[in-house]
Amino acid sequence: MPRFIKPKAIRGNKLVFRDATVADAAFILGLRTDASKGRYLSATSPDLAKQEAWLAGYAQDAGQIYFIIEDAAGEAVGTVRLYDQQGDSFCWGSWIKKDGAPSGFAIESALIIYHYALHLGFEGAHFDVRKGNTGVIQFHERFGAQVTGESELDYYFKMDKTTILATLAKYEKYLPNGIQIEA
Ligand SMILES: CC(C)(COP(=O)(O)OP(=O)(O)OC[C@H]1O[C@@H](n2cnc3c(N)ncnc32)[C@H](O)[C@@H]1OP(=O)(O)O)[C@@H](O)C(=O)NCCC(=O)NCCS
Repeated sequence: MPRFIKPKAIRGNKLVFRDATVADAAFILGLRTDASKGRYLSATSPDLAKQEAWLAGYAQDAGQIYFIIEDAAGEAVGTVRLYDQQGDSFCWGSWIKKDGAPSGFAIESALIIYHYALHLGFEGAHFDVRKGNTGVIQFHERFGAQVTGESELDYYFKMDKTTILATLAKYEKYLPNGIQIEA
């Protein structure tokens, strides 16, 4: 059975993922409490101490991986998180891009997630997207995700391994050298 392993860093093409720490609390809060970026995310308290406490708890939590996404200069440009393992499927979300992130941020960051998850042994992904978040819904559909259901608020999606492999191949130019994992 795969399990979440928190690497020190994952290098892609233009982006580097690194494990989030308590020191990232203000950066994360700034993104999540931004009125337009946070519109389709679950609500976050603006209290910095609460966010720091959450990240301290996260450091002890083997059930998720929270990445800060950096550009080539080491500047934080976004976040993404893996969580809610269900057998050999992982869920991902908390996906946010800072204004001014490198072009191709969305595609490359999604490819890094899928690449790393396959490396960990996962065979598929599941995630949900708020119904009004049309840009993000379109993104996942172009990537080959399938809608498996819906609630009043959300669409539920899945990506199986065959689709993930086909998508990694289709968008290879965004991640030409794959990923380098620093344990
Ligand atoms: C989620 C998020 C990181 C996605 O990033 P994004 O830049 O909005 O993603 P996009 O789908 O617009 O894709 C970026 C670019 O890649 C292009 N692109 C996306 N998918 C593509 C595909 N399959 N093939 C070719 N080009 C593609 C888009 O056309 C877009 O091009 P542009 O920059 O010239 O307009 C960003 O929207 C965000 O931070 N949203 C707020 C938080 C949020 O709602 N997160 C999701 C919660 S589920």
